Amino acid sequence: MVKLIDGRAIAERIKDEVALTIHEFNGPRPNLAIILVGEREDSKIYVSLKQREGKKVGIDTHLYALAAETSEKELLEVIEFLNKDEAIDGILVQLPLPAHFNTDKIISALDPDKDVDGFHPQHPKYIISPVLASVDACLDEIKMSGKNQVACVLYNSDIFGRGLEDVALAKGFTICKKENLSEADLIITALGEPNKIKKEMVKEGVVVVDIGISKVEEKVYGDADFEDLKNKASYITPVPGGIGPMTIAFLFKNVLEIFRRNSDMRE
Ligand code: GUN
Repeated sequence: MVKLIDGRAIAERIKDEVALTIHEFNGPRPNLAIILVGEREDSKIYVSLKQREGKKVGIDTHLYALAAETSEKELLEVIEFLNKDEAIDGILVQLPLPAHFNTDKIISALDPDKDVDGFHPQHPKYIISPVLASVDACLDEIKMSGKNQVACVLYNSDIFGRGLEDVALAKGFTICKKENLSEADLIITALGEPNKIKKEMVKEGVVVVDIGISKVEEKVYGDADFEDLKNKASYITPVPGGIGPMTIAFLFKNVLEIFRRNSDMRE
């Protein structure tokens, strides 16, 4: 019978640490600017969660909600302004952006030292992309090492997918192609295709780390069909309540790390 990896519980532990550290500073709080362009319902929900959870740990969030028709030039000006603003420790551009934006160009315009997502090609080493940190923490939680184990990583979007294989490689997994999914001991999936992964497609005892989130008629689904897999997989991260809350917790850890460095420099 499958076991769940409780992302909410892991996230709470990390957020408690962040809250305590910020409390111990006993001074100004970290500031995170969030840029949201357009009206996507899912993006609005993610952003409001980041704002709500930020309040709980003592991170001040500042929302820049821009119309979907905002031009690339205007968005670049907002980023430039926030890059220069010394009160702002971290900047997050909620993705995906409307189609007329060149996402790589926008991300590259961020000051790499303020890029809390770790998406900038020159982001500093101490910033670990929250999704990657979350996958790593899930594997640590179940003490899964990659020794003699095969991992398969499924993704459509390079910006989220490119680092996932590196996480598995760093843990010692051998990577297999998606055509050989049924050989994988670990599946990391970030497709955003509801209930796509079924029991016929996987190996007995597989671990599924599910990064996909899709909403169909008000219900939230992951890429893994939990009901179908529950007698074959050994561990699954649930959706909701798995990777999602963890990414917010690791995002805050990044904001705190930048804030700490900025505070050291001001001293
Ligand atoms: N959209 C979905 N997940 C994320 C994330 O982790 N960071 C940003 N910036 N946008 C997202």
